[in-house]
Amino acid sequence: MALSNQFYVITQPGLEDELRQEISEIWPYLLNLEARPNAEPVIFLKQEIGGWLIEAPLILGLQLNHFSHLASRILLRLDEFKVKDFPKLYDRLRKIPVDSYFSKQDFRVEVAASKSRLNNEKRILELAKKAWPKMQEEASGAIMIRMHDDICTVSVDTTGEHLHRREHRASDKWIGEAPIRETLAAFCIRKLIAAEPLASLSEVILCDPMAGSGTLLKEAHQLLQGHFLSEYSFQKFAVTPKLLKLEGLASNFTSFPTLFAKLWATDRDQKMMEVLRRNLSEISAKQINCADVFSNSDPVGVSVTQRLWLVTNPPYGERLEFKEGFERLGEAMAQRSSERIGVILPKGAFAQFFKGLNRQSSWQVQSQSFFKNGGISVEFSVFVPA
Ligand SMILES: C[S@@+](CC[C@H](N)C(=O)[O-])C[C@H]1O[C@@H](n2cnc3c(N)ncnc32)[C@H](O)[C@@H]1O
Repeated sequence: MALSNQFYVITQPGLEDELRQEISEIWPYLLNLEARPNAEPVIFLKQEIGGWLIEAPLILGLQLNHFSHLASRILLRLDEFKVKDFPKLYDRLRKIPVDSYFSKQDFRVEVAASKSRLNNEKRILELAKKAWPKMQEEASGAIMIRMHDDICTVSVDTTGEHLHRREHRASDKWIGEAPIRETLAAFCIRKLIAAEPLASLSEVILCDPMAGSGTLLKEAHQLLQGHFLSEYSFQKFAVTPKLLKLEGLASNFTSFPTLFAKLWATDRDQKMMEVLRRNLSEISAKQINCADVFSNSDPVGVSVTQRLWLVTNPPYGERLEFKEGFERLGEAMAQRSSERIGVILPKGAFAQFFKGLNRQSSWQVQSQSFFKNGGISVEFSVFVPA
């Protein structure tokens, strides 16, 4: 068995169970040193709030950066030890082989200390600078020192730019108002699909009637695809296996079909049409319309004969006004002949939405998940006909 390392895979609190599920699903497709799907186990060591500590060979843990749609950052543990005095801390830091990661580039150090005798973050940083003279404040590579309960954990960030910043975030021009984070959007799509066999999704149109910049639909489209455009920190590490630095790496992986027969985005804001066309440009089976979800001229309400699922992230009435309210939204969503509805609602809005949804037809809850979106407590609920 290849030498194992510990990786800390960070996600948003509330997404941990799904992250574990996602890692288990991705795992068999990750490549070993011979560029073949691996047969190594992934060992889930410990769940924390907002992450999973796993044990895995280096080549596999690093590849999670390409394939996890729920993780925001992946740290590789370099050392962990109990420490209550600065000389011992200095001694341990000095022995960490930072050159194996940053042989040619500089790196910065981030320190977080709490509930420990060595609580002074500035002092710890000074000590790190002494142990690792190559350290530079502005460098993009990063080593993290976390001190908690007198346990010092030293990790290297394998990711760099956070994983939720997929390519279309590169320019603010292509973002609507209150866009959802890509990692949360991917989570909602996974929950919406739940146990549905992937093959049957090729018969389903997925529509977001309040699509904004189209994040939910874009994530649905690429849920099974790897991300190969971003530059990850690990690609520059000296220890990273050559295979993972190859330009044509993507072509070595099993290719998966895109999900859903067609993606359909509508929004009442004319300005979002250009944004949607740009953000969904790589999707060929799509439709984009300017329409009001409460209006009779909404195309989704009139013309669908195929299997239809709805997913949406409406304004919450906090940062974005939503004067029509959640009861009317529930009613409007129920009027489309869909067979599954997923909606992100702010805390306290569920009862109104459910009342509207059940006014003329009968729906039941299939799943509910709770998390924060932009600091607001929300729930993602999936409804199916009762
Ligand atoms: C919270 S944003 C959606 C953000 C989207 N999920 C994203 O990631 O970009 C809500 C969207 O609903 C749209 N909207 C508000 N009221 C609407 C209505 N009655 N019909 C259709 N769209 C509406 C807004 O224009 C806005 O783009």
